[in-house]
Amino acid sequence: MFEIFGDPRTNAHNPLGPYPDIDTARAMLAARMAHWGQHGFGQWAIAMRDAPDTVIGYGGVAYRQYLDEERLNLGYRFAAESWGQGYATELGAAALKLAFEDLAKPEVFALVRPANLASTRVLEKLGMQRSGDLDDVPGQARSLVYRIRRAAD
Ligand SMILES: CC(C)(COP(=O)(O)OP(=O)(O)OC[C@H]1O[C@@H](n2cnc3c(N)ncnc32)[C@H](O)[C@@H]1OP(=O)(O)O)[C@@H](O)C(=O)NCCC(=O)NCCS
Repeated sequence: MFEIFGDPRTNAHNPLGPYPDIDTARAMLAARMAHWGQHGFGQWAIAMRDAPDTVIGYGGVAYRQYLDEERLNLGYRFAAESWGQGYATELGAAALKLAFEDLAKPEVFALVRPANLASTRVLEKLGMQRSGDLDDVPGQARSLVYRIRRAAD
């Protein structure tokens, strides 16, 4: 996890920057495990079927604070070596399926920095649409908010 989240390449658009040390990764992993414990779902570790012990990224749906409101959020971060092969889109589609079909959630949000064109493209390929913006990075451009609703039954 530290290898991926501590890499400046995977945090080029992240205002918080890369994890500074492995203790930060440990604390973030503990927080993710706590989310699993509390809700029964959360972000996944992602691996190739033929190399199940090598984690190539993290992502999925989990609750996230949107300033004063908690929303179900789709997030992802892949090792730079794995980019450009459709993995984030595949992960996103699986996460939306889980949210709508298994968890019966009404909507899923995503938050992206405006300069992060690859991530924006992933959200659009998943059928998510702009639903506003959020002033979550003081002194910088507002983040873009994307949303998708469960299809009507
Ligand atoms: C964003 C990220 C998850 C994308 O992962 P990925 O597996 O490469 O995504 P996919 O291959 O499914 O799709 C990427 C799409 O973005 C496009 N893209 C890539 N770089 C781009 C750029 N600079 N400008 C415009 N489009 C770009 C690709 O061409 C592809 O679209 P296409 O299928 O229409 O050709 C990956 O780059 C990453 O982990 N980045 C660092 C972490 C991050 O930014 N997370 C998101 C925070 S909101």
